[in-house]
Amino acid sequence: MRAMVYRGPYRIRVEEKPMPRIEHPHDAIVRVTTAAICGSDLHLYHGMMPDTRVGHTFGHEFVGVVHEVGPAVENLQVGDRVMVPFNVFCGRCWFCSRGLQSNCHNVNPNATAVGGIYGYSHTTGGYDGGQAEYVRVPFADVGPSVIPDWLAEEDAVLMTDALATAYFGAQLADIREGDSVLVLGAGPIGLYAAKSAWLMGAGRVVVIDHLEDRLEMARTFAHAETFNFAEHDDVVVLMKRITGHLGFDRVIEAVGAEADGNALMHITSAKLKLQGGSPIALNWAIDGARKGGTISVMGAYGPIFSAIKYGDALNKGLTIRGNQCPVKRQWPRLLEHVQAGHLKPSEIVTHRFTLDEIPDAYHVFSAKLDGCIKPLITLSAA
Ligand SMILES: NC(=O)c1ccc[n+]([C@@H]2O[C@H](COP(=O)([O-])OP(=O)(O)OC[C@H]3O[C@@H](n4cnc5c(N)ncnc54)[C@H](O)[C@@H]3O)[C@@H](O)[C@H]2O)c1
Ligand SMILES: [Zn+2]
Ligand SMILES: [Zn+2]
Repeated sequence: MRAMVYRGPYRIRVEEKPMPRIEHPHDAIVRVTTAAICGSDLHLYHGMMPDTRVGHTFGHEFVGVVHEVGPAVENLQVGDRVMVPFNVFCGRCWFCSRGLQSNCHNVNPNATAVGGIYGYSHTTGGYDGGQAEYVRVPFADVGPSVIPDWLAEEDAVLMTDALATAYFGAQLADIREGDSVLVLGAGPIGLYAAKSAWLMGAGRVVVIDHLEDRLEMARTFAHAETFNFAEHDDVVVLMKRITGHLGFDRVIEAVGAEADGNALMHITSAKLKLQGGSPIALNWAIDGARKGGTISVMGAYGPIFSAIKYGDALNKGLTIRGNQCPVKRQWPRLLEHVQAGHLKPSEIVTHRFTLDEIPDAYHVFSAKLDGCIKPLITLSAA
């Protein structure tokens, strides 16, 4: 089969790989019909993620058709159209039974640190991902769901991570009726988080980024107020000025460790590797929240960081929450919102590529060329 393959930082190819096979009675093999590239894949592409091995296939956002099932699989049949959460999870351990599917204890030798994720390096279990013609899906009875007939393929693929993560991010922010909400980052996660904040009763939603086409999408898709941080000398002063100097009730950080906006942080992290990335967006979240407020961190961070304003967070009495999203837990409520027409996930899709074009897709998305906000990979007809 054909699959996207990692060859080193900024170097990916499409190659022939052996067909995945049923390795365990609870496995299924899914023929992928549509996949996506996530902002998280860029951390792999840039070589920022430890233990990203040459030969690994990325892709944790995918939908497809069940091609084969192991002898113990009961809930799926060959031919079912399924969406697959980005988490690999067992459904039975202490964590899964409490809804913490992203913290499953049975799917990763590093399980005390992080759960299992498709196509996201050996740090998260080494599972090959869905930017390929076929993918092995472990615990097939508990992860995938059959796609409802009314849900379009391109909307379904966005439920497997981006939309679910953003909605979860808004949930962790603990938004109450009328709250002011700041979203840092206007990528797919930030855009959907801004939209989700309204669904949860926010009274004001502000989005900050420095890419104009994304800020435009934040205004049209998410009806948010927007600010371009590149146009302001001091973002902290800006955040205080627009909130009567108190700060925002809730902040959703949707940027992560590859944040722009501070040259010194960029040099100490990306260039000198003195820390696991730039904490500038996290520090803006701490500065931008009002005392007693909540920060929800959806952006990805490596394990070790310095220069985080933890003392300020403590003295302001902030609640800081974060996790990898337990995707499947979000689906019942999200499906209601999508079916009711409260949002159309695929409205933020800007680009579609074939699997053979995936090296270009990574380049365009990584360099933020051509107004690229969310690229999909179209494999074959369902
Ligand atoms: N927790 C989870 O389960 C989970 C799931 C998916 C993605 N993520 C993470 O969420 C983050 C966002 O994902 P995405 O797909 O939207 O990525 P993306 O790269 O498309 O978007 C990030 C946005 O942040 C902007 N940005 C950079 N520096 C900034 C700053 N200092 N302040 C404000 N904005 C800034 C960029 O211009 C970009 O528009 C990534 O770190 C990704 O790894 C986490
Ligand atoms: Zn992702
Ligand atoms: Zn589990």
